[in-house]
Amino acid sequence: MSAQTPKRYSPLWVTLHWVIALLIFITFYLGISTQDIPSTEKVGILRWHMPLGITVLLLMIVRFVVRWRTPHPEPATVGNALLDKIGEWTHYLLYIFAILMPLTGTLLSVTYNLAPVVFGGEGSLPRGMTSMVHGLIGPIFGLLILLHILAALYHQIIRRDNLLARMWYGK
Ligand code: HEM
Ligand code: HEM
Repeated sequence: MSAQTPKRYSPLWVTLHWVIALLIFITFYLGISTQDIPSTEKVGILRWHMPLGITVLLLMIVRFVVRWRTPHPEPATVGNALLDKIGEWTHYLLYIFAILMPLTGTLLSVTYNLAPVVFGGEGSLPRGMTSMVHGLIGPIFGLLILLHILAALYHQIIRRDNLLARMWYGK
């Protein structure tokens, strides 16, 4: 570890992590809530789901750009090379999916020209609308988040290394 390597993530980073996490939880919940409901109710949910999802995309781009300019703590280790690699890859995949989800959502919106219906109140949602790639990769993203939370709990409760503190404010 070099003298400049910090012990925790920077306050900007911590803020980005938790704001994005909260927005993803809300957007995910709203996305799931669009299933099996009448079209008029779906429009009301999409009015929130779509802009929140776009906000996630914009914040993820900021996070991605800032990523290589901000000093980060050493990668966490649990003393097992395979588990450490899984941890590293889960983080990469979380980045990829947190960008792919809003991108494929935007693709849906463009394909079905949803903006005038959702935000302009013009006409109604197309009858045969399906969630395409957006719906297919949603469960994979959900599983990755679950794995990530379980790993955080494993560090906190079983290894008791207080890894969560690295993703919080402090000296
Ligand atoms: C973090 C970002 C996002 C997450 C986690 C997310 C998640 C989801 C989920 C889980 C569903 C339900 C899928 C299904 O019914 O199979 C959904 C539906 C939908 N999402 Fe997203 N979404 C995100 C961003 C966006 C964005 C940015 C847009 C558009 C600009 C969008 C447009 C839609 C639409 C139109 C549906 C309804 C599809 C249908 O009823 O067939 N999403 N979303
Ligand atoms: C309750 C939910 C969550 C908990 C408890 C949690 C916890 C943590 C912790 C403790 C770390 C630091 C790991 C380390 O020190 O190496 C971390 C890092 C990270 N988390 Fe989460 N997290 C949550 C939600 C999310 C969500 C929804 C995402 C989706 C984008 C996410 C993406 C990341 C990424 C990519 C990292 C690696 C560090 C970075 O590049 O920012 N987390 N998380």
